[in-house]
Amino acid sequence: MTVKQAGIDRREFLGAGAALAGLAALPSLAGGQERTLRARVSRASLVGAAHPQTEVWTYDGAVPGPELRFRQGERLRVELENLLPGDTTVHWHGVRVPNGMDGVPGLTQPPIKANGGRFVYEFALPDAGTYWYHPHLDSSNQVGRGVYAPLIVEEPEPPRVDRDVVWMLGDWRLDRQARIVADFGNFMDASHAGRIGNTVTVNGAVREAFELRAGERVRLRLVNAANARIFALDFRGHDPLVIALDGQPVEPHRPEGKRVVLGPSMRIDVLLDATGEPGSSYAVVDDFYPRQAYRLLDLRYSKERVRGAAGAAMPKLAPNPLAEPDLGRAERHTIEFGGGMMGNAPMMGMMRGMAWTVNGRQIGEHDMDPILKLGLGRSYAFELVNDTQWHHPIHLHGHVFRVLTRDGKPTRHREWLDTVLMPPRSRAGIAFVADNPGDWMIHCHILEHAESGMMAVIRVA
Ligand code: C2O
Ligand code: CU
Repeated sequence: MTVKQAGIDRREFLGAGAALAGLAALPSLAGGQERTLRARVSRASLVGAAHPQTEVWTYDGAVPGPELRFRQGERLRVELENLLPGDTTVHWHGVRVPNGMDGVPGLTQPPIKANGGRFVYEFALPDAGTYWYHPHLDSSNQVGRGVYAPLIVEEPEPPRVDRDVVWMLGDWRLDRQARIVADFGNFMDASHAGRIGNTVTVNGAVREAFELRAGERVRLRLVNAANARIFALDFRGHDPLVIALDGQPVEPHRPEGKRVVLGPSMRIDVLLDATGEPGSSYAVVDDFYPRQAYRLLDLRYSKERVRGAAGAAMPKLAPNPLAEPDLGRAERHTIEFGGGMMGNAPMMGMMRGMAWTVNGRQIGEHDMDPILKLGLGRSYAFELVNDTQWHHPIHLHGHVFRVLTRDGKPTRHREWLDTVLMPPRSRAGIAFVADNPGDWMIHCHILEHAESGMMAVIRVA
């Protein structure tokens, strides 16, 4: 089977001579240091050196921004200087931060003003795992223009692998001059699947290949930084082993249907054993959307072989210190997500540009009364109901929850997540201990959905 390369326009961008070199390591910051991060406009070669550069918005001038790497338990201290033309904040996605560090404007902090505003983020990192950081203000626009970066928290004793590599998946809507199409926030995207682009990047560029050496074991940290695109990665000829979801260790397993599926904002750590022969090449294909499969890149083997067969022992990650919900005594609530095209959003809302509802309500970025008040330290079980024809990755701030059921049936792994991808007309039963005080968002991470009504606040006090 042949599959075209990412997206409609990508084939044109990938003309003769546009092949890119393998993935370089991201610049990284050693743990424990303080640093200033500058959110600023920059330029990037998203589609290759043979094509015009794209004006992007960034952390520190690059897409993705700098990889922050710490050890579990260390403190992160980052001063954000905002040189963007719009106000911003930083949200540390998936990290159980104190509420004041959560980066939600009007809820946990004032916006960091455009053209020179500053804010210091400082907190301890309680959990090891793969996280990322991004703005939480005007997010569809800012994340969609490239303001995002990985945050890696290493285990005290990381499993032994030959390489630890991050792939940040980005999705862009570009015109033929490789410029970002600035139709952010349009109602068409908002009321359907969100802003799905036409150019997919790995670590900020369209990639031809990722180099492997026969016999090596790679810990691949996949991060979906796209506004709306969902990925289903098929590592042809390989058998990736899932070891962590949203940064949290999970019983190592082969992914269902042999696809590694990531909704927006989700992370999956896989162990990729390079079982191919030196000189061979295999496609990684994303076929989430029917009839729109494309080749993300090739796994291209060098001539080298590092060992006969990859290490036999499967390294297992130690669990993070998460409080176990007491299911016998958990208080139960239902949260219903509604609206969208072919849905039931009230006409009035549609006219205000609001397409979605949470428990029948629509809130905007500046109207944040809590829909639920939870007792600090108590256990909760939520039945999340997707009463729409669309996928929604539902993200809860400040906490990590177990997914106990899907459509009423027990899940195999009772996985801990911070974002649960809900197929159309589906349910997910989640449970957690409300042990982090403050006002926390729960919202769809299709950013256009969040901004058009699919967000709400939960108070823990
Ligand atoms: Cu990744 Cu509320 O965000
Ligand atoms: Cu959604």
